[in-house]
Amino acid sequence: MTRTPVNVTITGAAGQIGYALLFRIASGHLLGADVPVNLRLLEIPQGLKAAEGVAMELDDCAFPLLRDITITDNAATAFDGANVALLVGARPRTAGMERGDLLQANGGIFGPQGKAINDHAADDIKVLVVGNPANTNALIAQRNAPDVPAERFTAMTRLDHNRAVAQLAKKTGVTVNDVKKLTIWGNHSATQYPDIFHAEVAGKNAAELVNDQAWLENDFIPTVAKRGAAIIEVRGASSAASAANAAIDHVHTWVNGTAEGDWTSMGIVSDGSYGVEPGIISSFPVTTKDGRFEIVQGLEISDFSRARIDASVGELVEERDAVAELGLI
Ligand code: NAD
Ligand code: LMR
Repeated sequence: MTRTPVNVTITGAAGQIGYALLFRIASGHLLGADVPVNLRLLEIPQGLKAAEGVAMELDDCAFPLLRDITITDNAATAFDGANVALLVGARPRTAGMERGDLLQANGGIFGPQGKAINDHAADDIKVLVVGNPANTNALIAQRNAPDVPAERFTAMTRLDHNRAVAQLAKKTGVTVNDVKKLTIWGNHSATQYPDIFHAEVAGKNAAELVNDQAWLENDFIPTVAKRGAAIIEVRGASSAASAANAAIDHVHTWVNGTAEGDWTSMGIVSDGSYGVEPGIISSFPVTTKDGRFEIVQGLEISDFSRARIDASVGELVEERDAVAELGLI
């Protein structure tokens, strides 16, 4: 049976995450080994030539699943009929830039892109925002797309989730395959809260197994929460291959489902669960099935966890208020 190709739009396609992402999408890692794809690459005018170079390399791979590549600096063209959109291109913070300037600059990107998604994307559109500040950029895009169900807009905390899984596996001397039910709460920022209290390591409760509060507070949480900055310091550039890998994982899990007995972390529009301010885009533990996700309910939240979730949610509320004040949502 010949399947209809899925239209996948990638913004910032000529950047370093784009370069690590496109070849894996074209080889079937995003949606499955039997799903053909059309790639729509959105760049700013200065990035178009580099995007053309990447497209030449994609051609040279002769990927059996890759049907068509469009390169454009026009958002309406890029999102026309899009089934999946990976919003990677963003305005990075540069020297002397205040937070308000950063939010304003990104509002100028994610507002119009949200509107273009609203007006041109396919009815089943699924959006993942990677470009930072990812949660608030996703909120801006979502609020500019009133005709698209809010739950189709998500922000990436899967990289944080994967980082936390790897750190916990190292600490407990198991492989990552044995680590389940870890949660990232809150913002993709240094305030995020990686929670091991409901996690399992080879079927045992992770916090009880580790039984080391000092490691949890002084090592694990800060290592995961500040990993992005640590990579920038050591590598001299922001994480790219691991970020692309997490974007692939996020969409693949969203479309294909979480494994029985496990969950993942996604930045999604809060419905007020766990006391998280409704409407903001915050990371939660979620299970996925048939292209939909549900927040894992009923987890007991200790005072230790409550304070950390509240701090990160508080930061997101501040970011929301700041973009509201700037008229971006
Ligand atoms: P990069 O600078 O290498 O590439 C960004 C690309 O986006 C550039 O090619 C640029 O021309 C393009 N771009 C800028 N504005 C655009 C617009 N309006 N439309 C389309 N394209 C546009 O950056 P990168 O390393 O690929 O990182 C991209 C973003 O991802 C950054 O904001 C980074 O902080 C973020 N990031 C997020 C996570 C996460 O876990 N959520 C992890 C790593 C990086
Ligand atoms: C990461 O977590 O690696 C990135 O979000 C860091 C950054 O600021 O680009």
